[in-house]
Amino acid sequence: MHLTREEEAMLAGEQGNATRKAMQILVALGKIYDAERLVKVSSVQVSGVSYKNLGDAGLEFLSELAKDGKARVKTTLNPAGMSLTDWKSQGIDSWFAEKQLQVIDAYGKLGVEVTCTCTPYLAGNEPSFGQHIAWGESSAVAYANSVIGARTNREGGPSALAASLTGLTPLYGLHIRENRVPTIAVDVDTLLRFPEDFSAMGYFVGRTAKDGIPYLRGVQRASLEDLKSLSAALASSGGVAMFHVEGITPEFGLGAKNLETLTFTRKELTETGSQLNDEGVPDFVSVGCPHCSLTELATLAKLLSGHQVKREFWVCCSREVKRLGDEAGYSRLIEKSGAKFALDTCMVVAPVEELGYRVVATNSAKACHYLRNAGLKVRFMPLEECVTEATRSV
Ligand code: F3S
Repeated sequence: MHLTREEEAMLAGEQGNATRKAMQILVALGKIYDAERLVKVSSVQVSGVSYKNLGDAGLEFLSELAKDGKARVKTTLNPAGMSLTDWKSQGIDSWFAEKQLQVIDAYGKLGVEVTCTCTPYLAGNEPSFGQHIAWGESSAVAYANSVIGARTNREGGPSALAASLTGLTPLYGLHIRENRVPTIAVDVDTLLRFPEDFSAMGYFVGRTAKDGIPYLRGVQRASLEDLKSLSAALASSGGVAMFHVEGITPEFGLGAKNLETLTFTRKELTETGSQLNDEGVPDFVSVGCPHCSLTELATLAKLLSGHQVKREFWVCCSREVKRLGDEAGYSRLIEKSGAKFALDTCMVVAPVEELGYRVVATNSAKACHYLRNAGLKVRFMPLEECVTEATRSV
């Protein structure tokens, strides 16, 4: 891989130990994927924030880098394993909280913004069309590539952090236009009315598309919330990092000729929904996977207004969106109902299974997928039904 003189110097350690380590990671990655060179990035989003996934080895790695490393571009974090301020009310053990706060402290020393969200594009880390970025969270990667038209591979924690500490990433995969063309077509032959419909469709398509690039035809309209849900579901049942929606996403014109074609009708929509429903009465309800938008907070405020929740109800969102919800008066109505904001975290990365809950109701196919993997039972239902479920007498 070709390196400029400055990049060679970074690799030789002339700009410090953390930069040298970061360059080693990027050069190794570039060699594996046959990248010609490195490319500058304008934004980074680091996954691998929850102590649940990082463990002590990860914490040690971060602390070492924090001795002399500094982020060179705007960098935010994926959700952590708990709310950074309200972890006690979430029932989190103090030993876990201590470790999680050490992780966050190390990121802070590295100059990373402690904004822990899987929707950085709603929280001030919003790249533009055509920009090279290095993001880690799979749903955000799919959203950035597909809906914004920025260019990122699905980075692991170390490679995203390496990009932050150098401002560079290897030029391969989805950074190259030719690799962004569709690999499978999907004829959508049913009306999709809610984000949950897009979530179910993404879950269905992801299973066949795997790490390919689906081209969806026949979608009449799609809101930000619809596309956010679609991005998350495609990236959870499969490894989709980019998709196109004809007439809607910015690069759909890259073409879709002679592709294997899937069909998605009302039958597949209903069947996928049923497959995401286990037996059991929910004892925990959570929405906001991916993290809620302001529009979703407005809907929740309206639905919860004048009601009391009868079981644990988490509304997962970023601090930035919550702040907007405060200003608009939505947060007050949501909290008055007894629902709790789960900021900096979510129902999947927090150790919900260890908090004694057994059956989770949620409007996200992605959350159902990962909660099941963690041994919980799930009920997949629209946002409105999640509220009905949470406010229903036990
Ligand atoms: Fe975000 Fe957690 Fe879902 S990180 S996409 S809310 S699993």
